[in-house]
Amino acid sequence: MMNRKDEHIKYALKYQSPYNSFDEMELIHHSLPDYDLSEIDLHTHFAGRDFDYPFYINAMTGGSEKAKAVNRKLAQVAQATGLVMVTGSYSAALKNPQDDSYPSKKDYPDLLLATNIGIDKPYELGVQTVDEMQPIFLQVHVNLMQELLMPEGEREFRSWKKNLENYATKMPVSVVLKEVGFGMDLKTIQMAHAFGIKTFDISGRGGTSFAFIENQRGGDRSYLNEWGQTTVQSLLNLQDFVDTVEILASGGVRHPLDMVKCFVLGAKGVGLSRTVLELVEKYPVEQVVDIVNGWKDDLRLIMCALNCKTIADLRNVDYLLYGKLSEANKKH
Ligand code: FNR
Repeated sequence: MMNRKDEHIKYALKYQSPYNSFDEMELIHHSLPDYDLSEIDLHTHFAGRDFDYPFYINAMTGGSEKAKAVNRKLAQVAQATGLVMVTGSYSAALKNPQDDSYPSKKDYPDLLLATNIGIDKPYELGVQTVDEMQPIFLQVHVNLMQELLMPEGEREFRSWKKNLENYATKMPVSVVLKEVGFGMDLKTIQMAHAFGIKTFDISGRGGTSFAFIENQRGGDRSYLNEWGQTTVQSLLNLQDFVDTVEILASGGVRHPLDMVKCFVLGAKGVGLSRTVLELVEKYPVEQVVDIVNGWKDDLRLIMCALNCKTIADLRNVDYLLYGKLSEANKKH
């Protein structure tokens, strides 16, 4: 049987979301700029530190030979471009101390390395993860629908909030509460914020679907493949709270224009998984480095066309919504 982590990679690459919310959001172009292109500044701030670039390689893999090869390429790209790389869930290494599939600070001294753990893991395992990886922040993922769809998944969830409270109040590094492609709602964020969590990656629908992945792995509930809220819809639902906490966005981000739309809706940073996975599968590392560096230039170009000097300025950009995004009407 194929390793579960390898199946995630295989089926993530196979899935093409039938709908991507970024396609239904349009930014209002500006014709009389205040700034030269060279003045545009990409730096951002979240999880207690400044970052030169507002996008990062989001959590993917670890725990197999294939994962090791993918992680090596991702780490090389991240180190060469100055991006943060978040590893996949560290759970495989917690189970197997011999595991060497995750990049280390020793091998990549200049890498901005972050890591990831499931909310089902008690605080002590989170501390061990941080001790071993020395990450700049720790993502704690919530993946309820994935667990429910996995035959071998969790069935007990009452510990999750208690675990989160411990992570929020005791962890020596910044903690980011992260979804895995289903979107995160205001109630979840307010509850976690009350525990002390300040930073959230709302990872919405539109790119990778873990419902699809689990259904390919033997599940028979493909009618749930499109479960959850899209990335743009999740951000729209959070507009009243987006400046109270730190929102990071991911899920279906394909290129710099999708990134900019997230910043307009208040995100402080943007994560990409599938898009970067596809690049490192297709192209040699040097070419991926060029593509990623090109994204930095393209972000500046788009910001110039919106008359914005900084990521924070993008908050003032007007936009149009079409289709499902303009029709959506939340009821309680
Ligand atoms: C993921 N994702 C993920 N998330 C997480 O918190 N821990 C993990 O271990 C993994 N593993 C993983 C493996 C693979 C192969 C993929 C493609 C994704 C989810 C990921 O971080 C992100 O939230 C979603 O994939 C949505 O973003 P994209 O893929 O649409 O850019």
